[in-house]
This record gives sequence, structure tokens and C-alpha cells, in this order.
Amino acid sequence: MKLMVSNLRAVGIVGLGAWLPEQKITNHDLMKLVDTSDQWILTRTGISERRKASAEEAASDLGTKAAQKALAMAKVKAEDVDLIIVATVTPDMFFPATACLVQKNLGAVKAAAFDLSAACSGFLYALAVGSQFVATGAYDTVLVVAAEVLTKIVNWEDRHSCILFGDGAGAAVLQAVEKDTGFLSFDLGADGTGGDLLKVPAGGSRKPACQETVQNKEHFLVMSGNEVFKFAVKAMADTSLKALEKAGLSQEDLACLIPHQANTRIIEAVRKRLGLPAEKVFINLDRYGNMSSASIPVALAEAVEKGYLHKGDLLLLVGFGAGLTWGSAVMKWVV
Ligand code: UT7
Repeated sequence: MKLMVSNLRAVGIVGLGAWLPEQKITNHDLMKLVDTSDQWILTRTGISERRKASAEEAASDLGTKAAQKALAMAKVKAEDVDLIIVATVTPDMFFPATACLVQKNLGAVKAAAFDLSAACSGFLYALAVGSQFVATGAYDTVLVVAAEVLTKIVNWEDRHSCILFGDGAGAAVLQAVEKDTGFLSFDLGADGTGGDLLKVPAGGSRKPACQETVQNKEHFLVMSGNEVFKFAVKAMADTSLKALEKAGLSQEDLACLIPHQANTRIIEAVRKRLGLPAEKVFINLDRYGNMSSASIPVALAEAVEKGYLHKGDLLLLVGFGAGLTWGSAVMKWVV
């Protein structure tokens, strides 16, 4: 997918926001729930702690707070937003869309709103979709939100998965930017044959909720960790190279790689395949775990806040997730 057709506008992120619930769950806390250890979690995943939403907090609450920060940074009023896309696998409910709830919370009265489901690749998919509207001139301001409350869908008795995930939200405001800046390329992909590797089996139209599905804990996330691990390394490296090629760039041109924060061993394997030095890869999963679609925007917001990214820097965002899905974007940073 190329955005460099001459009559299209260049599109970039002009505002970013992240919001994380206050409560921290440490590896030591998890040792009270399942048979695990701080050392196992740290060495096998790189995670020390993750955040947990309160019983009252849902995806739209986290997403709204991240969106308010992104709008403030972009100096955009909520009523000027044309479209809101929320990427999430933990929507408040089946419908209405979480994006409509965020729209109401923000008072974004003229915005169209819909949700997008691409799991951990959701933020990248939503950036790609949202930027098309700005590139064509259909809309001037698109708000992309990634909000997840994964702690409410993990099985706290399954040590293979409950140690990995955390809650959080990130948001980005997309607008037209100077030519040859902002998004330079996207690469998106999917392989539905791997759908069983990471899923919530029940609660949808295939297996509606009933007493039996609740008893069998089929409303919780199930995952084949090793299979997903192998897929992740290959998919992230391949999609990164494709996005770089589409942008006419190579790895050496990059100032920064912001990968989906799932496992430091996955990130390290991808870094090596891409031949990037460790200091160019931004990692924050030690503090937040895997927040699915929210991982990349939260990491991006932190990278900017910490002065890790500067105007004019070339960066690569890359992710993978359930579906299976993957995606990447090459950008020239504009703020
Ligand atoms: O956004 C996408 C979401 N999914 C992912 O990113 C998942 C990708 N996969 C992974 O990150 C890794 O596969 C895991 C972290 C999930 C697992 O790490 P692993 O190195 O692949 O471990 P394993 O599943 O091969 O398990 C090794 C051993 C097993 O023991 P045995 O059977 O060899 O005796 C597990 O039972 O480690 C055991 N184990 C644990 N031990 C302590 C599994 N989970 C735990 C645990 N604490 N939490």
C-alpha cells in the first residue's frame, strides 16, 4: 500500500496520547495466583509488571483519556474531529462500537465512529485506514485510538498466558502534513489459517454464551505460545522489510524501531534479522506487558515524551497479532 501518489496529501501523526490504569500487577503478585516465578517471567518474556484496570473501567474509559491527551498535544478541539477509529479486542460490549462511546465522552459531535478488529496489529491497521481518508481529502482530522483491557479476558489460572498481558490505551491524531513527511508506506497482512492459535473461543455467534461456555472458561483468551512466537519473528521481520522497500529506504536509514511489545526475545530476534543496533529499538514492555493494540501507541508516546524521537527522524512501527495479522508503517516524524 503506497501513499506516495502525487495527488494525495501527505498524512502524519500530529498528536499522541497514552493512558495507563494506576494499579500495577508485579511478577511477585502473579506468583500468588499461578505456579510461576519472577525469574521465569523476566527471562522468558522481559516483563516485570503490567497495569490493571479497575472493575469499573472499560476500554472506552481508557481510550477517552488517551484521546484527550492526543487532542491536547495536537491542539485540536474534539468537535473538529471528522472520524474516530478504535482498535480493540476488548470492546466495552459487542455493540454499540467502543468508538461511539469515545465519541460521546469526547463530545466529538461531528465525527463518524467505528471499531476495527485486528488484535495486536489493530493500531497499525487503524493508522492505515484512517490515513486514507486524510490522504484523499475526504476528512481533515482522524482520531485513531487503541484501547485494551486484556486483564478482563485472560484466564488467571493459565500461567502460559496470564503473565503476559496488561491494560492501557494510546491515541493518535492524523492530519495532512508537509509533502514527503508523515507516513511513507504501510504494509498490512493476514493469514486466517492461524486463527486458532490465539483466540477467545466463545461468546460470539459461533459459540454463544451459555452456562456451559462459562463453566468451561471459554470466554477467556487461549493461545499456542510457541507457535505464535515463531510466527511473530518471521512476520515482523518480513513486513518491516516490505514497508522499508515500499518507502525506498533501508534499515540503515532508520532512527528508531517501535515494535509491538509482546516479548523481549521476539523483539531481539526481529532486531537481529533486521541488523539494527539495540539502541535503535524502543522497549517498554518491562513495565506494561503486552497491551495488544495499545502497545505500539503507548511505546510511541513514551519515545516522544522521553526525547527519543525527533522531528525529521525516520521510524518504523511493526506489529503482529491474532488473526493472524501483521502490519508495519514507515514514517518521517513531524512533531
Ligand atoms: O500479541 C501476541 C500475543 N502472544 C504472544 O506474544 C505470545 C508469544 N509467545 C511467547 O511469548 C512465549 O511462547 C511464552 C512466553 C508464552 C512462553 O515462553 P516459551 O519459552 O515458549 O515457553 P514454553 O511455552 O515452551 O514453556 C517452557 C516451560 C514449560 O515447562 P515444561 O513443559 O517444559 O516442563 C512450561 O510449562 O515453561 C513452563 N511455563 C512456565 N513456567 C513458569 C510456561 N509458563 C510458565 C510460567 N511460569 N508462567
